[in-house]
Amino acid sequence: IDAYELFAKLPKAELHLHIEGSFEPELMFEIARRNEIDIPFATVEELRKAYDFSNLQDFLDIYYQGMNVLQTEQDYYDLTWAYLERVNEDNVRHVEIFFDPQGHTERGVPFETVITGIRAALEDGKSQLGISYKLIMSFLRHLSEEDAFDCLEQAKPFLKWIDGIGLDSSEKGNPPEKFARVYEDCRGLGLKLVAHAGEEGPADYVWSALNILKVDRLDHGNRSLDDPELVVHLADRQMALTVCPLSNLKLCVVQDMKNHPMRVMLEKGLLVTLNSDDPSYFGGYVNDNFKALHDALDMCVEEAVALAKNSFTGSFLEASDIRGWH
Ligand code: ADE
Ligand code: ZN
Repeated sequence: IDAYELFAKLPKAELHLHIEGSFEPELMFEIARRNEIDIPFATVEELRKAYDFSNLQDFLDIYYQGMNVLQTEQDYYDLTWAYLERVNEDNVRHVEIFFDPQGHTERGVPFETVITGIRAALEDGKSQLGISYKLIMSFLRHLSEEDAFDCLEQAKPFLKWIDGIGLDSSEKGNPPEKFARVYEDCRGLGLKLVAHAGEEGPADYVWSALNILKVDRLDHGNRSLDDPELVVHLADRQMALTVCPLSNLKLCVVQDMKNHPMRVMLEKGLLVTLNSDDPSYFGGYVNDNFKALHDALDMCVEEAVALAKNSFTGSFLEASDIRGWH
């Protein structure tokens, strides 16, 4: 059995996935047509060519533009269902997906429309594909604390459908502490807490996510490696990190996949997991990320198995379910 085949066969969980970032150009054009919205690109090929980024903000500009065509419950269903069918092929058995409500409600799409469409597809994924799920609502950190509180208010009638909250968008200049009070309220509501930290921002932001937001899991966390004391702390606590190699390459967080810190992270005893982040924009789903590390770092079978196992350990599944996957 060759390495690629083994990666494909391993049962995996995906813990860092923005559902709007799984929006493939073909589906985007189809939904734009039926909603009679103009896309500023003539063809799918032209759109894909625009996916050339030199930093996080470059990507975010096109990511928010892309989600603008989403309007109806059916649109959100189709988006989510397409992702689930695709990762079913990768033998992803559990997903914990982010959605960005403010990217939709800002344009006048009701919160209810967004979450109802996404949830219906997730429920169908569970019954028809056997993929279990958690849903994580992310706040856009470039917007204000007040906007985040407003988003939380809109989410209140749907809290039974929401497992956790996250923090994404432009990291630099928007430190975790900006959302300390929102996170405190969400903790009080019994929600799981995660946040993007140390993707482009400094190791200090990782400390803030841990100590001020009190996150249960960290998204990215690459820059933690700049601070040896932080690395020891993360390893001691066995804090899960959701690392995204193809994303890191496309957003120039790493300049060459051969320099990707995944192996170093494993060697330092960090609980790292492998994820796709925004697969439509970054050129691959979960198994493509395994392949990329295999090609660049000669990742071995033991490392791949450890990453797949970590994906369940780091999930918000019940301990008994996690044991079932180990
Ligand atoms: N939104 C979608 N993908 C993101 C990423 N990698 N970092 C920050 N915000 C995001
Ligand atoms: Zn992300």
